This record gives sequence, structure tokens and C-alpha cells, in this order.
Amino acid sequence: MPRKRKASISAPDSKTEESTEEAPPSKQARSETSQTHTMESYPASKVYRLIEPGPVLLVSTGSLTSNTHNIMTIGFHTMLQHDSPALIGACIGPWDASFESLKSLGECVLAVPDASIAEKVVDIGNCSGDEVDKWSTFKLDAVPAETVQAPLVGGPGVIANIECVVVDRRMVSKYNMWVLKAVRAWLNPELKGQARMFHHRGDGTFVVDGEVLNLQERMVKWKEFQD
Ligand SMILES: Cc1cc2nc3c(=O)[nH]c(=O)nc-3n(C[C@H](O)[C@H](O)[C@H](O)COP(=O)(O)O)c2cc1C
Repeated sequence: MPRKRKASISAPDSKTEESTEEAPPSKQARSETSQTHTMESYPASKVYRLIEPGPVLLVSTGSLTSNTHNIMTIGFHTMLQHDSPALIGACIGPWDASFESLKSLGECVLAVPDASIAEKVVDIGNCSGDEVDKWSTFKLDAVPAETVQAPLVGGPGVIANIECVVVDRRMVSKYNMWVLKAVRAWLNPELKGQARMFHHRGDGTFVVDGEVLNLQERMVKWKEFQD
């Protein structure tokens, strides 16, 4: 049971919250509103459960032509750079057979699965390509990619595929973090407007995309990302 602990952090009072509609409060005003918070302590070792953000992904590695392709599931990944080029950080560790393929070929495909195949995606992450041919076991379509040797993941339950090459390995030995450059991307037109990604909450439970909140008009500073 987490212990309740009081700590002194600065929190805006309701008056300040109202005023943020017009202009942010001055530094002095903020220090005058310091309060004691009422939050409960949470284990720092489990913060991934609070902020594990992106959708669950499938990672295809190896080579389709030499029949060495494999597939795994990941929840730990992050966008690192928007474009020129688009960079993605993906955490893939040596406990995965896919790690060796990624190390030797330096390429992979990130596939974004729809919630309709969530059970299959979890099963793919609960066995190893060292033991089973996951493509046939899970009836996945391996489709030739354009620029990398690993296959795209076909089929109606896949929202998108991103062909990637490894561009930075400096964080692999310390964090199992591979920096990937997106070189080609594909969208499944059949799922346009109805795709639902799903997100791991870090403990075997998942959240499925729901209501869309459109705040584009308020994103006044970031219009270039709304095309
Ligand atoms: C929901 C889910 C999320 C996962 N996230 C990751 C991850 O972010 N990084 C990782 O290395 N393994 C992750 N795994 C575990 C791999 O998918 C698992 O080790 C898989 O068996 C590796 O397959 P392979 O040995 O064929 O490469 C996850 C598994 C599941 C079910």
C-alpha cells in the first residue's frame, strides 16, 4: 500500500488556473501560491506504468528473401525527431532473438497493429522466433518491403508499416535503445478513419484509442504539424 507523504511543491490555486486563460502568472505570483499537495507516493521503479505512451508495435527483422525474418512485440519506444529525418527510439533487448538480427542487418520494420488483433500481438511477444515460426503460427502475411530486407506485416489488422534503418547504436549497450530512421512508410487504406491503436499500461493491461479531442485551433504555435 503506497504511503501518503506530504511534500512541498508549487501548485496553482483555482484563481491562478482561471487566470491562465489570459496570461501565465508571474514568477512572484506563482511563489505566493505554493501549497502542500495531497498526492500519494508511487514507486519510481514503476513510472513506466504512468507514462508508457505509444501504441504497441510489432517489429519485423531479418530478411524475407533468405527466409530469416522474425517478428516481436514492443511497448517501449518513442519519437525522437519529427522529420529530416524522422527518428524513433526503440528498446529491443538481448533477451529477444530479434536483437541479433537487428544488430547484424541494421534494419527493421515497425508495424502498427489495430486493437482487433491485440491478443495475437501479445502472443507474438510471449514466444521466441528461436522456437517457433511466428509468421506461420500467427498467420501473418510477410510482404516485401521497398528499402529494407525485413518484411512489412500485411493483413487487415495492421494500420501502418514503417521501414527503418538503424542510425545510432550508442545507447544499445547501456539502455537497449536503438535509434531508427524511418525511410519509408505505408498506411492501410481499409482502416482509414476506423483504426484503433492500443497502448500497454506496463502490467498486462491495455488502453484502446477512444474519443478524439481536436484542439488544433489552440495549437497556435505549432501549425506546421497540422497538415
Ligand atoms: C505487450 C508487450 C510489450 C513488449 N515490449 C517489449 C519491449 O518494449 N522491448 C523488448 O525488448 N521486448 C518487449 N516485449 C517482449 C518481446 O516481445 C518478447 O521477448 C518476444 O518474445 C521476443 O521475440 P523474439 O525472441 O522472437 O525476438 C514485449 C512483449 C509484450 C507482450
